[in-house]
Amino acid sequence: MAQPPIRINLFSDTVTKPGPEMRRAIAEAEVGDDMSGEDPTVNRLEAMCCALFDKPAAVFACSGTQANQMAIWSHCVAGDELIAENTSHVVNYEAGAPAVLSGVCWRTVAGRGGMLDVDDLKHVPRPVDQHFPRTRLLVLENTTNLGGGRVYPPEQLRRVCRWAHQQGWRVHLDGARLMNAVVACGVPPAELCRECDTVAMCFSKGLGCPMGSILVGDEPTIARARRARKIFGGALRQAGIVAAAAIYALENNVERLRLDHENARQFARDLAELPHVHIDPADVETNLVFFDLDPQWGTAGELVARAREHGLKIGALGPQRLRACTHLDVDRADLIEAVAILRRCLEGNDGGAGRTRTS
Ligand SMILES: Cc1ncc(COP(=O)(O)O)c(C=O)c1O
Repeated sequence: MAQPPIRINLFSDTVTKPGPEMRRAIAEAEVGDDMSGEDPTVNRLEAMCCALFDKPAAVFACSGTQANQMAIWSHCVAGDELIAENTSHVVNYEAGAPAVLSGVCWRTVAGRGGMLDVDDLKHVPRPVDQHFPRTRLLVLENTTNLGGGRVYPPEQLRRVCRWAHQQGWRVHLDGARLMNAVVACGVPPAELCRECDTVAMCFSKGLGCPMGSILVGDEPTIARARRARKIFGGALRQAGIVAAAAIYALENNVERLRLDHENARQFARDLAELPHVHIDPADVETNLVFFDLDPQWGTAGELVARAREHGLKIGALGPQRLRACTHLDVDRADLIEAVAILRRCLEGNDGGAGRTRTS
């Protein structure tokens, strides 16, 4: 049976489509050959990001994965090791790219909410010995994705970075949703990321662009990252058409992330009222809402499939774990309807396959 169209898409904030104003910025972008450094719009975006993060250099990338992997390639050589939290995107969701592209291996460490603190890392450093890979890089994530959309307390982020530097490691921040962290903690990007050697930020998530990320850092590291981008096949020509969308997003779509966070918190409170759903709304700090389903009802996959039949798309992230995500293409009315659909599915009143258990 054909699936009905998706009416409410809470699968990710990557599903946003550029609106008329952003499309106008794209259409009117001045462009040139970015691989020769001649695209004025890309150059403007990179300069804006240098100022935003108070870092000397920036390079535009096609995706968050590409920006992260360019950073890893730039900080490490083959045989080096990176350290990341258990749930981190770079080691769980980037197709083994550190090993494939940079010959880098990794060790993961358990944190809380996807975040690490110095105590979590104290056992990690190893003596210099021919047996061991050289630990070279710590990768942190802010906000965390699979960790639950959590925001690093700024002081914790500084503390971990300083401690990592004392070990002789460099620090890369995967800030795919960095602006969500910025609006949630109220600390500007430059101050928040002062101690990070490189930061990758996506334009294609809550900021609403069709594609694109930025990597910022010191000049030698970003020069290497530019080379990595070429090696990975991600150096572009008239990339100004996408850089224009990113500039539009930085100028117009940052403050509104607060609304996504408020919507997510209210959605979480509404979910907490549903049967078979386990969620603590206090855990929702940004636009990602994770919740667990009582196995007595069924699996996360079953609920996802059932909701999809009613035009609602959410994600299953484990046998009982689900994720919904607020963004600029969903409003409060959509979220109220999403809760109503989920309630009908969970109560077996959705006219679907007839699950009626209420225990
Ligand atoms: C924390 C985090 N880092 C990196 C990425 C990768 O971004 P992209 O999908 O643009 O490659 C994502 C994507 O969702 C993410 O959530």
